[in-house]
Amino acid sequence: MTALDIRHYDHHQAAEIRQLLLDVYAEVYAEAATTDPFATVDRYAQGLDGWSRRPGWTCVVGYDQDQPVGYAYGAPLPAGAPWWGGLLTEVPADVVEETGTRTYALSELMVRVPWRKTGAARQLHDALLAARPEERATLLVDQEHPKVHALYQSWGWQTLGDLRPRIPDAPLFHAMLRDLPQR
Ligand SMILES: CC(C)(COP(=O)(O)OP(=O)(O)OC[C@H]1O[C@@H](n2cnc3c(N)ncnc32)[C@H](O)[C@@H]1OP(=O)(O)O)[C@@H](O)C(=O)NCCC(=O)NCCS
Repeated sequence: MTALDIRHYDHHQAAEIRQLLLDVYAEVYAEAATTDPFATVDRYAQGLDGWSRRPGWTCVVGYDQDQPVGYAYGAPLPAGAPWWGGLLTEVPADVVEETGTRTYALSELMVRVPWRKTGAARQLHDALLAARPEERATLLVDQEHPKVHALYQSWGWQTLGDLRPRIPDAPLFHAMLRDLPQR
């Protein structure tokens, strides 16, 4: 396993690393962006800017020597978070009740192809979540990517139900939850 040099950032440093995050995204999603309007760099940049301006946003970037290999980022869900607005599966109301400090949302995790299957993705995932004070984390995984869904299950994530964000062109996701390490 390649032991990555993992660098931590927060929203104060978002502008500093924005281009790097976009460049890695453009490479990783180059093929997907040719057919999926949800995957274009412009669309992604809007999402990144929305997430990274939140005061609670955190990001880890992994380096192998001087090469960025991938990254992960997220932020705590605010009270009354729109995150759960597109949930299609019926669950008890308290499951999706947000307080602002209950749930950390892992928004993105991506690794450049040469570092796939090296343990880099898991290192980034663990580094992002390790010091979180929240009770649990959530993420969304595209239902057309069953292998990624299975990967997250193997990392301890559980599927809550189906979710389609209420934004144009959004795919159908599995909404997943995981207890955080502090618990
Ligand atoms: C998800 C990711 C970080 C996992 O990295 P990893 O732990 O090294 O695992 P792998 O890359 O081997 O992925 C596991 C399996 O999922 C598949 N997979 C990964 N991303 C996929 C995607 N976007 N679409 C479809 N299948 C995908 C892989 O092909 C692999 O299948 P295989 O075992 O048959 O080869 C990495 O695959 C990646 O960056 N994917 C593109 C971005 C992405 O989809 N991020 C997740 C968003 S929820």
